[in-house]
Amino acid sequence: VIEAKVDSLLALMTLEEKIGQMNQYNGFWNVTGPSPKEGDAAKKFEHLRKGWVGSMLNVRGVKDVRAVQKIAVEETRLGIPLIIGFDVIHGYETMSPIPLAESASWDLEAIKNSARIAAKEAAAAGINWTFAPMVDISRDARWGRVMEGAGEDPFLGSKIAVARVNGFQGDDLSKYNTIAACAKHFAGYGFAESGRDYNTVDVGTSTLHNIIFPPFIAAKNAGVRTFMNAFNELNGIPATTHRELQRDILKQDWGFDGFIVSDWGSIKETINHGLSKDGKTAAELAINAGSDMDMESYLYVAHLAELVKEGKVKEAYIDDAARRILRVKFELGLFEDPYKYCNEAREKEVIGSKENHEVVLDIAKKSIVLLKNENNLLPLPKQGKKIAVIGALAADKNSPLGSWRIAAKDNTAISVLEGLENYKGNTVTYAKGADVSLGATTFVNEVKINKDDTSGFAEAISVAKKNDVVIMVLGEVGFQSGEARSRANLGLPGVQQQLLEEVYKVNKNIVLVLNNGRPLTITWADEHIPAIVEAWHLGSQSGNAIAQVLYGDYNPSGKLPMSFPRSVGQSPLYYNYKNTGRPSSDGPDIVFWSHYSDEKNTPLYAFGYGLSYTTFQYDDVNVKMISANAKEPIVEVSVNLTNTGTMAGKEVVQLYIRDHFASITRPVKELKGFEMVSLAPGEQKTIRFKLTTEQLGFYDNTGNYMIEPGMFSVFVGGSSDTTKEANFELN
Ligand code: IFM
Repeated sequence: VIEAKVDSLLALMTLEEKIGQMNQYNGFWNVTGPSPKEGDAAKKFEHLRKGWVGSMLNVRGVKDVRAVQKIAVEETRLGIPLIIGFDVIHGYETMSPIPLAESASWDLEAIKNSARIAAKEAAAAGINWTFAPMVDISRDARWGRVMEGAGEDPFLGSKIAVARVNGFQGDDLSKYNTIAACAKHFAGYGFAESGRDYNTVDVGTSTLHNIIFPPFIAAKNAGVRTFMNAFNELNGIPATTHRELQRDILKQDWGFDGFIVSDWGSIKETINHGLSKDGKTAAELAINAGSDMDMESYLYVAHLAELVKEGKVKEAYIDDAARRILRVKFELGLFEDPYKYCNEAREKEVIGSKENHEVVLDIAKKSIVLLKNENNLLPLPKQGKKIAVIGALAADKNSPLGSWRIAAKDNTAISVLEGLENYKGNTVTYAKGADVSLGATTFVNEVKINKDDTSGFAEAISVAKKNDVVIMVLGEVGFQSGEARSRANLGLPGVQQQLLEEVYKVNKNIVLVLNNGRPLTITWADEHIPAIVEAWHLGSQSGNAIAQVLYGDYNPSGKLPMSFPRSVGQSPLYYNYKNTGRPSSDGPDIVFWSHYSDEKNTPLYAFGYGLSYTTFQYDDVNVKMISANAKEPIVEVSVNLTNTGTMAGKEVVQLYIRDHFASITRPVKELKGFEMVSLAPGEQKTIRFKLTTEQLGFYDNTGNYMIEPGMFSVFVGGSSDTTKEANFELN
């Protein structure tokens, strides 16, 4: 039915009107990218009235959305409604943890619920399309956008991509509270050289097919309605003008029938890349490569009609792009009611509701990862203790909102101090110690880090001396990670490391609570500090979640979705590395093997690692061959898990495989299954996994999926560095 409607509409449209659908303008202020000079509001309004605009981004709130929609619907010749896009990355106004943090929960239902409430709030604010989820695999903690993804693993990343797409889009896109999702950034953006944002990407085909593509394929199969291409070049061709990626692989091979939007100005940036000699060439290359919508380059609207007339662009490409965009608009139900997302009463009722805050609190608790807990310093007793809280981030109500939170109200997160106030049995004394950043931080400005003001140290030291336990809240301010926030150093920013060491000299009972958007190199802390809690940027309910974990009202269950390096020089660092020809030394002092002479190869904390207040024991890893035939393998793996501690707890049981010999080398470990298991103290459960074609194969260098006979190992445990192993052979 929708296709017939699209056909009849296309038949009425002029070439310029079709091209108009492919043109997306930013709202009339500068939000997530530089506004090009010619992008003045008057021209945008003029184009809107002519029907030359198919979409707007960064227009939000019912009043504003209704105003632009009214022009599109009432003043243009055909009255085609706009699709309204916005970066709803981890919440709209009620903020969930940053996506990397949420991924640490490994709880797909909670992640889906978080995207669901983000969609509900955004839809209530007039928005019907989010530029999320970012499904880029990222192995390099220097890259600031690791905060926005699901981490380093393609298997976990694919599951999370599906959960997020389902959360945003729901089961019926035409409902008033579901929005179209966008798998981004296609492709390779997470592999920027040296972790520097927007930098060159040069990856081999094996990495492309086996590491980068899987979450995109998963999102596509889950029905994601849009893709965004990327700022980076991939192996010499900017992703935006990459025909093989977009037209051949995504649209033809994978059969994607939604549309592809460019990234902000990325069509024009192909000039800087050294590919397009001018704007017109950029437009020609981008449309011919399959980019359907131009975000803020102004080049489709300027040149496509002429390019078609000159025969440089097939009109069929314009028809195809317009068709894809109109299809999604029909699916959203915008033609039936262009104002379906514009209901003032709903906007008031839904945004910031109590129910939404409960959902984000739930996922915030689940996102916390306990990294160290010597002598069971945690959980803290609820009575009779004198507690010092030190660090500017402890009182910060802005940073926990994280990066990418354009619609969140400033300073609305529950701070750690506020969260601790709910527990009255102990005394709490606060000392800032030192600012992390100097001055307010914003989405568009560089964060200025305090590199030398230690004037608050004396007070912090004196407070630390007088108390039983010190909670130190240290890390990155919210905008120190995110787009364009690459870092060459991964330690605690500014004077915080110094502060930690000074406080440690007077009181060793320290609980270090980290607030950060990426893995940090906290090697000194790991050696000296008895308890370390990874609390990321946890969103609106941050402080409540942290306090509940510190006091044991929630037993932490998070597991790291990215390896934590010991030194920045190990980056990019990931658990699913290749063995190399020289994985170990020939003798105690022999140097000729793949290693660093001044650092270990291993991470400080491995992918999948995370402790609990209870302990778990893994026994009896068994493999049962139901079919050993490599054409149709069925392998059952079982393990016995016992809660050997004194508290009820949850464990993410992880299953890894190694395919020992293959025609293309395979990683030493690959995650192929996981299950969240709840156990009472002393309770034991047998956990079973099934490995079939889906888990046991890999992509060759042309993108064919295959399974080869031979030796495999399985590893089961609570972290990627588990050594509990069993073997099997396929024939
Ligand atoms: O969605 C984003 C993208 O991830 C980075 N550039 C700007 C876009 C729109 O805000």
